[in-house]
Amino acid sequence: MDIPDILKVADEVVFVKTGEHLDYLQEAILRGTLQGQKYWKIAEETHASEGHVRDVGSKLWKILSEGLGEEITKANFRAKIDKGSVYQNNNVSSPLVHQTITVNNNVNICPETVRSPTSPSNSQQTSSQTYIDLSDAPEIFRFYDRTPQLATLENWIICDRTRLIALLGINGIGKTTLSLRLIEQIKTHFDYIIYRSLRFSPTLNATLTNLLQIFPQQADIPQNIETQISQLLNYLRQYRCLIILDDVQMLFCSGQLAGQYKTGYEDYQLFFKLIAEVNHNSCLLIDSWEKPREVAKLERGNNYVQTLVLCSLGLAAKEILKDRKLSDEETWESLIDTYQGNPLWLELTASTIQDLFCGSVSDFLQCDEPILDESLQGQLDQQFQRLTQQELAVMIQLAKESELVALPDILKIVQLSVSDLVNAMRSLGMRLLLDAKEEDKTTFFSLNTVMKEYVKNRYMR
Ligand SMILES: Nc1ncnc2c1ncn2[C@@H]1O[C@H](COP(=O)(O)OP(=O)(O)OP(=O)(O)O)[C@@H](O)[C@H]1O
Ligand SMILES: [Mg+2]
Repeated sequence: MDIPDILKVADEVVFVKTGEHLDYLQEAILRGTLQGQKYWKIAEETHASEGHVRDVGSKLWKILSEGLGEEITKANFRAKIDKGSVYQNNNVSSPLVHQTITVNNNVNICPETVRSPTSPSNSQQTSSQTYIDLSDAPEIFRFYDRTPQLATLENWIICDRTRLIALLGINGIGKTTLSLRLIEQIKTHFDYIIYRSLRFSPTLNATLTNLLQIFPQQADIPQNIETQISQLLNYLRQYRCLIILDDVQMLFCSGQLAGQYKTGYEDYQLFFKLIAEVNHNSCLLIDSWEKPREVAKLERGNNYVQTLVLCSLGLAAKEILKDRKLSDEETWESLIDTYQGNPLWLELTASTIQDLFCGSVSDFLQCDEPILDESLQGQLDQQFQRLTQQELAVMIQLAKESELVALPDILKIVQLSVSDLVNAMRSLGMRLLLDAKEEDKTTFFSLNTVMKEYVKNRYMR
């Protein structure tokens, strides 16, 4: 290994351990050490005091030792790396070797040797030798439109090599369906495609152990999270992988502002951050009702992070109504508008129209207010149970308004301090429960008809 490669490995280990890349002085210490320089010489070249260089060096060796699972010192650093290369050639595993192999190596393990022990029944290998493991993904029977969204996702993943994508939307809008359809469209670009739902809130340890089992084992699956992340990142560099983690909202707390991790789940935050920041060839797509906070933070300064908010299916939703054999096609657009083009809401409403209105959309629309059948309300219950009291107060207030309202007006009518209101509004925005519109440099807020009706039914009658 030459010096840049070694520095890359060291940078990765330090990043996994601390969340920070090597700084200028740490890099100079490693470079100097590899060139056989003493601390005084490194200090001279970096215009730092020798004492400071020694302090930084000693902390750095400690981080590397912990990250690599064996003692690393200034005296043995070069030798350990060289030993790693020997092991690599002999295919002997050690934590250090593991780091070393995958950074440099474009090892082309034949996908035929790859098998997932976890879910063979829903796994398949395509003719182009992509290994696809969909595990507990639902089967998709129908898929309509979403052409622009598919094009955007394909462009981000294939052309821009985006590493982390958040696909957001309220429940039933079609995140899972779109993610699975996307696989069909881009599967030939990948060595591995893995879908996992987090609906039962697995810990990061469980998720990583499950993912690591998919790859051909070069070493035992480690127990410790940092080493697990590091091993997965190695695979993501070695192979081109698309990993879809669905139902990510299950990692977040109920009754707290959006995107707050449950106790014991905070390490997902570091995992997502590393996926976005560390160099690799793969993509992690996460589906969620709520925008993870670190995604909001990361996408500001990182070109490898993107967010797509999924909205109405639009007129393509007519196909859903056609499948249900509803009548009065001239009124379907109005039905789609009322139910926000949400495929699930439309499916549930179509059942009511079939059962109680003999399939006539026109008769159904005669009712003054949108009808929310119990199962549709049940879907919304799941989202509203997550709100804080302050968020709920805002939703109740907005449900009373017939016009669009700006923040200062909401402040006048809702009994909250400015900061509580701002936090509640931002959180509701992250949960995609508010409609916002800009006019004359002012942002106005409102609730869509279904939300309004739901809030009135559940909280105001
Ligand atoms: N593009 C589409 N074409 C046809 N049907 C769709 C489409 N998108 C979604 N659906 C249907 O709508 C329903 C909800 O879709 P899906 O489960 O993908 O939503 P979701 O956003 O993942 O919901 P949740 O947040 O609850 O997981 C499903 O029955 C699905 O078949
Ligand atoms: Mg889903």
